[in-house]
Amino acid sequence: MQDVNGKTGIFGIIGHPVRHSLSPAMQNAALAACGLNYIYVPFDVHPDRLGIAVDGLRALGVSGFNVTIPHKTSIIPYLDVLDESAEAAGAVNTVRSENGLLTGFNTDGDGLLSSLADDLDFVPGSGTIILVGAGGAGRGALASLCRAGAERVVIVNRTFEKASELSGLLRQRFADTDIIPVGTAEEVRPFLKDTVLLVNTTSLGMNGEVIPFVALGDMRADAKIYDMVYAPAVTPLLRHASELGLSCVNGLGMLAGQGELAFKIWTGVQAPPGLMKRVLATICIV
Ligand code: ATR
Repeated sequence: MQDVNGKTGIFGIIGHPVRHSLSPAMQNAALAACGLNYIYVPFDVHPDRLGIAVDGLRALGVSGFNVTIPHKTSIIPYLDVLDESAEAAGAVNTVRSENGLLTGFNTDGDGLLSSLADDLDFVPGSGTIILVGAGGAGRGALASLCRAGAERVVIVNRTFEKASELSGLLRQRFADTDIIPVGTAEEVRPFLKDTVLLVNTTSLGMNGEVIPFVALGDMRADAKIYDMVYAPAVTPLLRHASELGLSCVNGLGMLAGQGELAFKIWTGVQAPPGLMKRVLATICIV
């Protein structure tokens, strides 16, 4: 923990609830390692008080903050500027304050890309990516995968209409990616032989649920599996993928990756590589 003095700057995270957030631990570790005179604190902000809270953070000169559930979209009207990352994702997870001017960013999608590269040696390009889920996390992931050059993304979602709506929205922005919405395992099957990556963006697996949409056994032997869920560390999806010999990893690296990118936006400094992930690994219940 940093010594707090009259010059100490503040970063934080707003959410509701926020007590389970792992960001304070990893951000404070990085601030201390870099010798920066800041602290990072959690703020539990009820949805009814979001506007007042944002005004308060602005007035108090808080230098930047993360935004988590349930505020990622509802915060947008209270910000002054939106970065393209936040516009495309339709959500903000990082806010920078410069003399009270608040700019919203989204580092979740690029955190996913950095984890894909570091943990699975995967870079979007040719081949099909299957994205499970069409919620907020799915949209952020889709935007970053398209921006990074994915050739084709098949979105499979329980509610087909949401997959269809998301496809329509992002096709307008990323015309070079073939985005295909589907709603059933049968519709996914024809794409499996060309699938290089599957990403679970839903909460399925947090409580032992299996992913009903994809027959992993029909995938290519070199296909890779990314599960955004990180608690438990081994979800049924990851256990099954491992049994089949597929490369797979959980979402801890994405959590660290989005944090490293937020840290760089706020401080201009690169957090020590791997530090945030090591901190997370020591505190995560596996
Ligand atoms: P987030 O912002 O974390 O993505 P969300 O917007 O509520 O959260 O989206 C959750 C995603 O998980 C959705 O794609 C949801 O599917 P629906 O659009 O059909 O609701 C998916 N999801 C959640 N629980 C599910 C379940 N039991 N079976 C299948 N999909 C589920």
